[in-house]
Amino acid sequence: MNMMVPPSHNSLHYFCQILLSLVLLSLHMLTPLEAYGSKVEHLPGFQGPLPFQLETGYVGLGESNDDMQVFYYFIKSENNPQKDPLMLWLTGGPGCSSFSGLVYQIGPFVFEIKEYNGSVPSLVSRPQSWTKRSSIIFVDLPLGTGFSYAKNVTAHRNDWKLVHHAHQFLRKWLIDHPEFLSNEFYIGGDSYSGIPVPAILQEISNGNEKGLLPLINLQGYLLGNPITTYKEDNYQIPYAHGMGLISDELYASLQRNCKGEYINVDSRNELCLRDLQSFDECLSGINTFNILDSYCEDDSHLWRRSLTEVLKKSSSSHLTVPELSCQIYGFYLATKWANDENVRKALHIREGSIGKWERCYTTDFEREIFSSVEFHANLSKKGYRSLIYSGDHDAVVPFMSTQAWIRDLNYSIVDDRRPWFVNGQVGGYTRTYANRMTFATVKGSGHTAPEYTPEQCFPMFTRWISNLPL
Ligand SMILES: *[C@@H]1O[C@H](CO)[C@@H](O)[C@H](O)[C@H]1NC(C)=O
Ligand SMILES: *[C@@H]1O[C@H](CO)[C@@H](O)[C@H](O)[C@H]1NC(C)=O
Ligand SMILES: *[C@@H]1O[C@H](CO)[C@@H](O)[C@H](O)[C@H]1NC(C)=O
Ligand SMILES: *[C@@H]1O[C@H](CO)[C@@H](O)[C@H](O)[C@H]1NC(C)=O
Repeated sequence: MNMMVPPSHNSLHYFCQILLSLVLLSLHMLTPLEAYGSKVEHLPGFQGPLPFQLETGYVGLGESNDDMQVFYYFIKSENNPQKDPLMLWLTGGPGCSSFSGLVYQIGPFVFEIKEYNGSVPSLVSRPQSWTKRSSIIFVDLPLGTGFSYAKNVTAHRNDWKLVHHAHQFLRKWLIDHPEFLSNEFYIGGDSYSGIPVPAILQEISNGNEKGLLPLINLQGYLLGNPITTYKEDNYQIPYAHGMGLISDELYASLQRNCKGEYINVDSRNELCLRDLQSFDECLSGINTFNILDSYCEDDSHLWRRSLTEVLKKSSSSHLTVPELSCQIYGFYLATKWANDENVRKALHIREGSIGKWERCYTTDFEREIFSSVEFHANLSKKGYRSLIYSGDHDAVVPFMSTQAWIRDLNYSIVDDRRPWFVNGQVGGYTRTYANRMTFATVKGSGHTAPEYTPEQCFPMFTRWISNLPL
């Protein structure tokens, strides 16, 4: 109230202002759903009080408060939350809970991988948490994902609704957290997020230009192995050849017979189809998300099938318990953890709001955006910075496909391809373009790079977010 204009001499005006203040105040007190966040000081599975500041909560979207409720985890920077950037993180899928980004990739705790015995799975600290350099909001979007819910989830699941909801969510969240309005703001995501994230930036930027309040201090974005053109699959074949997974002869034959088109193959092109079958046989035991990782039954081996199918299969619920040595065992632990009653209490989950928590809810999602290149082109013109990184052992979105669309934006190179280093060792290769876009490979890493190589990705992130060269 002390931010209001000083009362005028007109007593009626003064009276009205007081009345308005009282109305606002009572509205604020009477609608508990509007009080977004709650502090979380302890989490089941984590020993002792949390050594970082976690807040969880819901932001209501739509006409009435029970229309759509978007759940988030907010972790304050462990360095200097007043000065450090604020980042919104979206996990791919579409429809995978942002808890995945938090717990497997860039957040301050991870599951301790040991056999589940009926007790709540244990959590331990991740030393390379990106929250050591930025505050991060992990948001469960689209509706129906993670702990977010709506009266009619199906009605809210498509690309553009996801974009609008993320935008609305953010403005509302900032109104409730005005202390973060002046921080530099970024959006990050990976995999499927390569489609919605650039569109969300475009919408925020358009909103700012139109004078929508609060003004968002948008600086840029970062994306890891992002789906961008839906042509990614065409790069699997040269990629597999380059990685020594198929013979020179098969590669030459594929090129000759398929002419570079491996997605929509004419069913009469028998030579191409036969080559593709040989290709699939060569690769049937390879884990596409990280070709160096062990192949697990539940992992996708759908080489060359549509990207959509590959991601869907990888994110489906597991009917059987995966082997402890499989990367996906961590997914299994998350399902046990998030469905534990005490965990839900600790996270302030509203009772009865959702049934079983699934790491990924991928059904009923309508794709509407089939390329995000135009958004990147527009954002480049507006001067936003970006970091696009590629785990170079991912065959789902191979680095070659990412390099190709970045090259096609036609910006000149300002810092040409060179190695970047961590502790004197090559962490990967990087190149920066005149549109302030930095591309970086992460050597030896997979589809979700920070998950596989945190010790490389953490310095990559901290340098970039601090405006330093990699
Ligand atoms: C599971 O193992 C942990 C030790 O890792 C132990 O503290 C806990 O009691 C065990 N739970 C059950 C149900 O056996
Ligand atoms: C939910 O939304 C879908 C898609 O808009 C619609 O077809 C369906 O009828 C709705 N269901 C209910 C119960 O309103
Ligand atoms: C890119 O910017 C142009 C010019 O402002 C606009 O007409 C177009 O719709 C934008 N593209 C996208 C995909 O938003
Ligand atoms: C880049 O240049 C090529 C060839 O001149 C052109 O086809 C393409 O549309 C350009 N890309 C953009 C984003 O302007």
